[in-house]
Amino acid sequence: MADIRFDGRVAVVTGAGGGLGRSHALLLGSRGAKVVVNDLGGAPDGTGESKMMADKVVEEIQSAGGEAVPNYDSVATMDGGAGIIQTAMDSYGRIDILINNAGILRDVSFLKMPEESWDIIFSVHVKGSFCCSKATWPIMREQQYGRIIMTSSAAGIYGNFGQSNYSAAKMALIGLGQTLALEGKKYSIHSNTIAPIADSRLTATVLPDDIRKKLKPEYVSPLVAYLCSEQCEATGGLFEVGAGSFFHLNWYRSEGSTLKTEDVTIENVAENFSKITDMTNAKAMGSIQESTMSFMANL
Ligand code: NAI
Repeated sequence: MADIRFDGRVAVVTGAGGGLGRSHALLLGSRGAKVVVNDLGGAPDGTGESKMMADKVVEEIQSAGGEAVPNYDSVATMDGGAGIIQTAMDSYGRIDILINNAGILRDVSFLKMPEESWDIIFSVHVKGSFCCSKATWPIMREQQYGRIIMTSSAAGIYGNFGQSNYSAAKMALIGLGQTLALEGKKYSIHSNTIAPIADSRLTATVLPDDIRKKLKPEYVSPLVAYLCSEQCEATGGLFEVGAGSFFHLNWYRSEGSTLKTEDVTIENVAENFSKITDMTNAKAMGSIQESTMSFMANL
């Protein structure tokens, strides 16, 4: 297969000063994309800031023969999102690819979860992806081309002990990614969501060292780059990716139980509960229309 390249394309990778974002940025830069390396440069819990992280990755891309510029804005404000995209426009005159990757952690059991830890996780992950996508959207729509990635997590899909704030935010990104896929389709703006697993400072406290060290971010970035390529037609997808494995996820719905509307009582729900939850003949659901139709059919 011929090399998949990004010559003439401009990519913004948020939180690209380390971990997964750095790996995505290096790969795209090595395949001809001009890259905006955004990073606020703070600690894993979102405190502090520094220009060093973004600058270092820009140097790495440039010394490998690629083109890159840094941006130090926070994704979490409208001004920050606009500033990040403006850096792409000022430096390279366009934006084709937006990888919403910046993230932080504030893990604590739900009982002890302070409002501040809930809010900051939502502002970096959800509002951050909103602010950057919102600033990008009119430009991609106008040029009738774009590729957007949301970075979700297995914690969002399955839930994870001690991560109620993070898992709720990561699930929100799946909804955002799906809706942008629908609204972007006719403008050739594709939106896909990944739930990665990789060695980074965010997994340092979660995974044992020997396993974590083998989970190279470089095993995630090729899927991200493919989803961001002209060649890839996929949109609205959700992928789990890491350690050399790649999976596509769908919603499945049980065959369920449909009662006559006059029979809808607590007792009839209880009597049918095992049928409602029986996933034996579950069916993949492709759209909100498909879902809604089955309710309407009973009226
Ligand atoms: P990381 O900590 O190395 O990368 C996140 C980067 O985002 C950091 O460089 C940080 O400075 C930057 N950042 C944080 N807040 C920012 C803000 N307001 N504005 C701009 N930049 C900001 O961690 P990692 O693991 O590479 O995380 C990347 C993304 O992948 C995150 O969204 C994370 O939640 C997600 N993820 C990672 C998993 C893993 O196994 N490493 C698992 C599931 C999801």
